[in-house]
Amino acid sequence: MVIQGKKALVTGAASGIGRATALALAGKGAVLFITDINELGLKQTAQEIENQGGTVALAKALDISDHEAVRGLAQEIHGAHGALDILMNNAGVALFAQPQDVTMEDWRKIINVNLWGVIHGIECFIPEMVKSGKGGHVVNVSSTAGLFGLPWHLAYCASKHGVVGMSEVLRYDLHKYNIKVTVVCPGAVNTGILDSVKIKAAASNVEHLKAKFRKMALTPEKVGGQIVRAIEKNQYLLITSGDIKALYFFKTKCFPVYHGIMRLVTRFMDKDLGIR
Ligand SMILES: NC(=O)c1ccc[n+]([C@@H]2O[C@H](COP(=O)([O-])OP(=O)(O)OC[C@H]3O[C@@H](n4cnc5c(N)ncnc54)[C@H](O)[C@@H]3O)[C@@H](O)[C@H]2O)c1
Repeated sequence: MVIQGKKALVTGAASGIGRATALALAGKGAVLFITDINELGLKQTAQEIENQGGTVALAKALDISDHEAVRGLAQEIHGAHGALDILMNNAGVALFAQPQDVTMEDWRKIINVNLWGVIHGIECFIPEMVKSGKGGHVVNVSSTAGLFGLPWHLAYCASKHGVVGMSEVLRYDLHKYNIKVTVVCPGAVNTGILDSVKIKAAASNVEHLKAKFRKMALTPEKVGGQIVRAIEKNQYLLITSGDIKALYFFKTKCFPVYHGIMRLVTRFMDKDLGIR
């Protein structure tokens, strides 16, 4: 897809991958619609886009897990601008916990934002894209935890596997309408999620783990650039880092090696988070 002049909605655009992708899309000449629960961060993203000469048609703060709010946003966009060309479902939250420590409140928070948030994006925007008959592109941001059963990620994995599953269905169902799909499975990226993530372990261990994570993390700008290229080249699966690509190779081509690595990863994480 040629991005110049396309109408693109990015959720979770106040920070991290969403902000970097919104900036990269604007840099390629897209007209941006941005949303996030964080109003101040959203205003900053809009300002940055405008400072670099880009166009923000709408910046609206809302909770992506609130269906009525997302529906209202869709009505506002469709009424004034017609169907989107690019829909990026990106807003998300994370939780690290042992399975026995995941409470109902944790489950609801993770599923409401990471899974219902994406469902709301799909339900509110895709019908209009199909009706317009002009094709388009849907980007769903999943995770490494959408491909593997990552230790300490029970609820997060449920939400992100759901996003991968929905993306695959959309890929095949929407092909006939010329709407392409990219599912993004980032490895470590140095974003605001490191501040918002809830980790149910001792504080000293948490800081140690975050420091390790930051060392191996990509910048959000690098990932934003990868996402824009995936839209341009119509790439379905985008795994952002080499370590995760290698692990995916073993899972799909040589399961016993994958199994061994995952057992090791679990042991390291348990040790890092102080439970063994
Ligand atoms: N950073 C990583 O290492 C990493 C790895 C894999 C997947 N991801 C995924 O990438 C996506 C973007 O995360 P990020 O790393 O840029 O984190 P981030 O915290 O920098 O950005 C996420 C954005 O989502 C917004 N958000 C959270 N809850 C919301 C809600 N209820 N309604 C609307 N907006 C809400 C936040 O305010 C924030 O601006 C997420 O879906 C995340 O799960 C991130």
